[in-house]
Amino acid sequence: MNLSGKARIAGIFGWPIAHSRSPRLHGFWLDRYGVDGAYIPLAVRPEAFATAFRALPALGFRGVNITVPHKEAALANCDTVDAQARRIGAVNTVVVDDAGKLCGSNTDAFGFIENLRQASDWHAAAGPAVVLGAGGAARAIVVALLDAGAPEVRIANRTRARADAFVSEFGTKTTAEDWDDRADALSDATLLVNTTTLGMQGHDPLDLDLSRLPNAAVVNDIVYTPLQTPLLKDAAARGNTTVDGLGMLLYQAQPGFEKWFGVRPEVDAALRRFVLDDLK
Ligand SMILES: NC(=O)c1ccc[n+]([C@@H]2O[C@H](COP(=O)([O-])OP(=O)(O)OC[C@H]3O[C@@H](n4cnc5c(N)ncnc54)[C@H](OP(=O)(O)O)[C@@H]3O)[C@@H](O)[C@H]2O)c1
Repeated sequence: MNLSGKARIAGIFGWPIAHSRSPRLHGFWLDRYGVDGAYIPLAVRPEAFATAFRALPALGFRGVNITVPHKEAALANCDTVDAQARRIGAVNTVVVDDAGKLCGSNTDAFGFIENLRQASDWHAAAGPAVVLGAGGAARAIVVALLDAGAPEVRIANRTRARADAFVSEFGTKTTAEDWDDRADALSDATLLVNTTTLGMQGHDPLDLDLSRLPNAAVVNDIVYTPLQTPLLKDAAARGNTTVDGLGMLLYQAQPGFEKWFGVRPEVDAALRRFVLDDLK
C-alpha cells in the first residue's frame, strides 16, 4: 500500500472487529485495481458509536461498512437511509456524499440474491422459498426474496414467536412454520436457505430430513465456516444444486467498494481463494 495525500479512505465499524474478513477482501480489490485508497478496521465501542460515526465526514472518510453490534445504531444515526435498509432494520454500508451527509443502505440483500443468481439458475418467481432462522441475516434474506418477486416465503425458526413477528411485519407472502415441521415445509419449495448458526464450526449440526425437497430446488447455506456444510453435502448427494455462503459475503462488499473507490470490483475465483485462505 502506497498512499498519496489524496487517498480515499473507508473502513468498517465493529466491536470486536478482529474477526472481520472485510479488510482483507477490500485490500485485495484495492491492490488489484491499483486504487490510491485504504480500508481500515475500526474497533468502536458501542458507547462511542454515535460520536465516531458522526465524525466520519469531518475526517474525510468516503464511507464505511458496519458490522455487529452497530447495524441498528447506524440506521438511527444516518442522515438518509434507503427503503430496503429501513425494511431490513439495519444498515451495513454507509456513503458520505458530497454534502457530507451519511447515507445508509443494506447490501446483504443484494449480496444474497446476486450470489444465488451467479451460482445457480434459480429465479425468484419459480415458487416457494423456505428460510430456516429468523435472526439478523434472515431479515435481509426475507426482504431480498420478497423484493426479488418470490411468491411465498416460509420461515421456520426454533423460537416460533420470531417467525410470527416476521409474518406480521413482512405480510401475506410470508408464513411461519413450527421448527418441528421444518421438513414438511420443503414440499414444492424451489429454494431452501439456512440462515441459522446450525452447521457452523463449533455449533450443533442442522438436523433436517430433505426427503420432501424437490430435486430441482436450490439449497443455499449462508454459513461459510465450513464452506461445505453437512446440509450442502446432503443436498448435493441427492442431486440438488447447492450454493455456499462465501459468495454472499463477497457480493455484499461490491456496492460499497464501487461507491467509495470508483471501480466496480469483480467477484471471481482468485478473490474466493484469497478470502478462503484466511478461513482455513
Ligand atoms: N454468508 C454471509 O455473508 C453471512 C452474512 C450474515 C450472517 N451469516 C451467517 O449466518 C448465521 C446467522 O447469523 P445472524 O447474524 O442471523 O445470527 P442471529 O441473529 O444470532 O440468528 C441466529 C439464528 O439461528 C437460530 N439458532 C441458533 N441456535 C439454534 C439451535 N440450536 N437450533 C435452532 N436454531 C438455532 C436462531 O434461532 P432463535 O431465534 O430460536 O434463537 C436464529 O434464528 C451465522 O452463521 C453467520 O455467520 C453469513
